[in-house]
This record gives sequence, C-alpha cells and structure tokens, in this order.
Amino acid sequence: MKRTVLFVLCVATLVLQAVGRGSASAEDRYINKLLSQMTLEEKVTLLHGNSTFYVGGVPRLGIPEWAMSDGPHGVRAEFNRHDWQYAGWTTDSATYLPTGTAIAATWNVDLCRSRGETLGEEARWRGKDVLLGPGVNIIRSPLCGRNFEYLSEDPYLAGELAAAYVAGLQSRHVAACVKHFAANNQERWRLENSSQLSARALHEIYLPAFKAAVTKGGSLCVMSGYNRVNGIFCAENALLARDILKGEWGFEGVYMSDWGAAQSTVASALNGLDVEMGTWAGHYDDWYFSRALLQAVRAGEVPMSVINDKVRRVLRVMYRTRMIGGQRRFGPGSINTAEHQHEAYREAAESIVLLQNTGGVLPIEKSSISSVAVIGDNATRCHSFGGMSSEIKTPFEVTPLQGLQDRLAGTAIDVRFAQGYVAVPRDSVVATAVADSLIAQAVAVARASDVAIVCCGLNHYYDAENVDRDDMALPYGQAALIQAVSRANPRTIVVVVAGSPVDLVSPSLCAPALVWCWLGGMEVGHALADVLLGEVNPSGKLPFTVGYTLDQYGPHALGCFPGNEREVTYDEDIYVGYRWFEAKGLPTLYPFGHGLSYTQFAYGEPKLSASSIAQGDTLTVSVPVTNIGGMAGKEVVQLYVEDVACGVDRPRKELKRFAKLALQPGQTSQAVFMLTAADLAFYDERQARWTAEPGEFRIHLGASSADVRQCVSFTLAP
Ligand code: BGC
Repeated sequence: MKRTVLFVLCVATLVLQAVGRGSASAEDRYINKLLSQMTLEEKVTLLHGNSTFYVGGVPRLGIPEWAMSDGPHGVRAEFNRHDWQYAGWTTDSATYLPTGTAIAATWNVDLCRSRGETLGEEARWRGKDVLLGPGVNIIRSPLCGRNFEYLSEDPYLAGELAAAYVAGLQSRHVAACVKHFAANNQERWRLENSSQLSARALHEIYLPAFKAAVTKGGSLCVMSGYNRVNGIFCAENALLARDILKGEWGFEGVYMSDWGAAQSTVASALNGLDVEMGTWAGHYDDWYFSRALLQAVRAGEVPMSVINDKVRRVLRVMYRTRMIGGQRRFGPGSINTAEHQHEAYREAAESIVLLQNTGGVLPIEKSSISSVAVIGDNATRCHSFGGMSSEIKTPFEVTPLQGLQDRLAGTAIDVRFAQGYVAVPRDSVVATAVADSLIAQAVAVARASDVAIVCCGLNHYYDAENVDRDDMALPYGQAALIQAVSRANPRTIVVVVAGSPVDLVSPSLCAPALVWCWLGGMEVGHALADVLLGEVNPSGKLPFTVGYTLDQYGPHALGCFPGNEREVTYDEDIYVGYRWFEAKGLPTLYPFGHGLSYTQFAYGEPKLSASSIAQGDTLTVSVPVTNIGGMAGKEVVQLYVEDVACGVDRPRKELKRFAKLALQPGQTSQAVFMLTAADLAFYDERQARWTAEPGEFRIHLGASSADVRQCVSFTLAP
C-alpha cells in the first residue's frame, strides 16, 4: 500500500515537473530556434550599441532594434541617433516625477509601484524597451553629486522601494535597468577609481538594494558602474557579475555597461558583461563588443557558448517584454496624461518631510493672514532639465511660488516674491553688494508680510552627475539670508529644495519651521502649498541622516572620501549613515527616518507570535498605532532589529521592516510584520555566507531611528 502511494506520488511529481518545464520552455524553445538561425555576426550585433541609445536587431529573423532611454524619474527627451544633441522633437516631453531621494522619503511601496507603472506607460508611448533606472546606490557621503537620483543610506529601504518600482515598470512590458552595479558612491574620478571595501560591507550595505531589485522586483537588466571594485572594473568584475549577480542571485537578464564603462573585450565577455553601451557615436565597429569580440571568438579566446549565453539573455529580455515571440504587448502607452501628472503630485505630497514645527507656525491658517512673502531662488527655479542623464523635458513644472499663487488665488491673501540670493553656476562669484541688496530687499518684504517662506537649498549645479559637492553648506549665502529673514519675521518657514543632505544647523536655530520638499517633480509647488496650508498632512520621513557637520559622517570622520584617482577606501565599513552615528554615539540634527505630522501617533504594546524562534520559523510582530491628534494622517512605523550579543561587531540596530498606515483621528491600526532568521543575519566573512547567531534579539519600533516608542525581545534558538 505504502509503495503504491509512493509510486503515485513520484509519477505525479514527474508529470508536474514536466508540465512546469514545458511551460517554462516555450520561451527557451523560441529563443533556441532563433539562436540556431543566427550567424556569429548577427549574434554580436545584439551585444553592442549601434547608436546612442539603441542596439541593432536582426530584421531577417524579426528581431527588432532595442530602444533604451534614461532615466530614473521620467523618460528623457529624444537624442539624435549618432551624437549627444537632442533631436528637437515636439512630441518627447514627459511627466517629471520627483527624483530618487524624494520618492524614498515617501516610504511608500505602493507609490513606488505606481511610479513604475506610470514610467512604463510613458516609455511604451515613446517606443522604449528599456528604461535606465532605478538608481539604487547607497548614499554613503552627503556630497555625492548623484545622491538625488539614488534612494537612501539604508539598503533595506532602498531595496524595497526599488523592487516595487521595477515590478510596476515591467508590468508595462518595459525592462528596468537597475544601476550602477556596484559600490558606485561618488562622482569624483568615477571613470577610474576603485572602491576598496570588505566583503561584509559589500554584502550588507552595497549589494542588498540590487539584490532586491533583481530577486524580488525581477529587474530584467542591470547596468554596471564606471568604477572599479577592489581593483577590477565593474563591467569586467567576475565576482560581481558572474558569481554574485548571475550565480548567487540567479539573474537571467542582461548585464550592460554604463555608457562607455566597458574596458576590455575578452575579460568583460568571460566575466559576465552581456551588452556594451557607449558614448563614442559613429565608431561602433571599434567598440570592445563589436569587431574585437568577433575576432576574439574566431581566435578561440571567447567560446561560442559564452556568446550564445549573452544572446539568449538579450532575447530573453525581449521575449519577456514581448518584443518577440508573437505575444501581445502592453498597449501603446500614454504620455503626459492628467493621471500621470496626478501621480507626480501624489508622490510629491507624500515625500514632503516636516522637519520641525515650533510655535504652531504650520499649517498656515489662511483666515489669519493677509500676506505671504515667498523668498529665494528656489521659489521660482525649474529643476527638471538638469542633473545630466536624468534631465527631463517636461510640459510644465509648478514651482513653489506658482503653487502658492495657484492655491491662494481667489483669496484676499497677497503673495509677494523676493529673489533673496542669486544662484549661479559653481565657482562663479556674486558681488557682495548684490548679495547684500537682495537680502535687504527680502528682509523688507518679510517684515511687511504675515508669514515668510524661504525656499533655499541646492539646484542642479550641485545635485548633479559627474561632480560631487565640496561641503554640506547651503551655497549662495543662504544661511545669512535665512537668519536675516527670520529676525525680520518670527513666522518664517524654511523650505529645503535639495536631493542630498545639506547643513541645516543655522536655519534650524533661527526659523521655527522647516520643511523638506526635495527635487519634487512637476507638481511639487502644488504639493508644497497643500502641505503648508494644511490641505495635506505631511507624512514623509528622511531616507538619510542629517548631521550637524560633515565630519560627523563616517567617510569624512575617517578622511577617506573621496580618496584619489586610483582608489577610495571604505574605512567606515558597514557603518554607513545611522549605523555610524549610532555606533559612535553622535547626535544628529534630524535622524534617519525622521518626519513630523500635524497629528500625533501613539504606539501601543507590541505583541510577538513567540518568545523564541528556530531557524526556518517566522516570527510575527504586531504593534497597534493610534492617531491621537485631530487630523487624518499617515505614520511610517519603522522596525529595527538589534542583535544583543554577537561574536562580531554589529550596528546598534538595523531597519528590517516598515509600514505606512493611514489613520483617521482616533483610529487604531495594527502594523504587522513577519521576520525570519534571515532578517537577523550578518555577512560572516570567515564562512563567506550570511549567519544568524542564536541568542537574544531586540526589536525597536518607532517613528524614526531615534524616536523608538516600543521595544520587545525574543530569542533565536540554537
Ligand atoms: C550615466 C548613466 C546613464 C547613461 C546614459 C551615464 O553617463 O552614468 O546613469 O544611464 O549615461 O545616459
């Protein structure tokens, strides 16, 4: 009897496996058939760009060209095929969504998914097959020029948001290309220098966001960094591409070079690069993966099996985005729709972080004022067409001044503008007399108004590709402007427009209210006005730590940023962002995860499903959160894990889960989280694998990394 059951089970398993293989292999069969018909030259055509943003196809076999476009927060305008000039189309404007750090500040996974869907629809409309984003490099130093495109100093937050973005984008049959793999955390010397870091820092800090984008989000493409990692260029780094990405993570898609990041033919081909993209238009035959690759195959230096694997990957991405295989593709897409613009608004509204609010300055009670002074270059500056590869040609961009004017139109409130400071390209000098007279004018306007709003921060001269900042200071004498305006008007609100950490010490001391509205996309002005006027309750939380001084941050405290043209050592190791501040007991101006609301939230007693778990078990943690204020609002409940005693040094605590709850006044909801031993593990360098040591773990639940409201402990059994 037992034997019969066993036999039936075995047969059933085999049948199921065969069925499984059968359905999986429709793709394989299709690809193998195409491959078997291709000449070597045709195969190599699929492995390198044939113009600025396209890879050639094989028309004879119905394989189309592969069209790519930047970038992370919108579909970039069209380029000429063979140079870096815009093509001058009138049909290529696109929705400009908030940039990376803004979307990270929403801590909203659902919004990241709908962001991806919006981008996917717009990319489809423009006929693009691959969108070059999201950018998920870790914010290691406040000074990295591309921080605004990236997400966070925390790998878990970055990974969760990136995975949702990727899934949303690819639901529209457009491939994501998560970038820049890996440890590409500065712009200075980005084309040559080597990020020198430990295996532990790589696995715990710099890889997890990529891993989540690939294994959880299913990213079909990954873009290499320009840099080297431990001496080896990312585009030819066997450990990164072949062993980890394709080996450990089982990545089945395409590993492509950043534009001009390939440095070799044979090493790149053997070590995992699939497609070379570049910037030397017109010289495509001279690229590493062009004529030189053909020669390397003919000379036996690169086996045909390696070429076939790469071609299979390209065809697989095409198949999965339904470019080939006779499947219906997601519709024609749509662009600049009211719905997409509303997506930009929703993201901006949820990204805004209320940093401080003393004396009840915010929200502004419309009935109590008759005039508002709006001050500062960032009140009127448009940021969409800046930053380099992520620049967007947008049909409109609502600035803070415009947003306030729109929202106050029809009221008796008078909105006045003063320039405040002159924003010029870096290293240009503004005459002191000009600066002084602008401050004097701003002070006069502020003094004569009921409320003063100073829009300060950075712009794309600073938040930019290819350049890092020199310090955290607010440029153009803005700190002096804020001081003067705050003295003239006690109801001064500072609005920070920036994608990276900036020095806010002086503004925080002299102004009662501070709000961060990022490089917040085309609808930021309306979203900001709605937050300032109390129509929207702010719910953003900082995705990075805002310290008092630059030299508090690990890489600067240790003097290892930006290194030199050869290398940059990551001496702070795994202690990045709050991990460093907490390990060193350093005070922060605004901690990681911080953001206030116009209401208050109370955290009740947390409950655990067990006081002890074994490897392989799941622990459920729940905590009731109540809106105890008078306004509907959203709270980001953050769960950090502390390993109480461990054989290796570990951060004081690490973010492992978060949930954004929407609560009406008086309403209570449970934040429910599941944890497994994997969430307790560290990367054990001696064994080259993740390990969770048995013993006590403490869970910290709270409203920021520094505002922990509840703690509860459990043990991991041996
Ligand atoms: C950037 C990439 C971008 C590519 C194409 C490179 O310089 O590093 O992020 O996708 O250009 O514009």
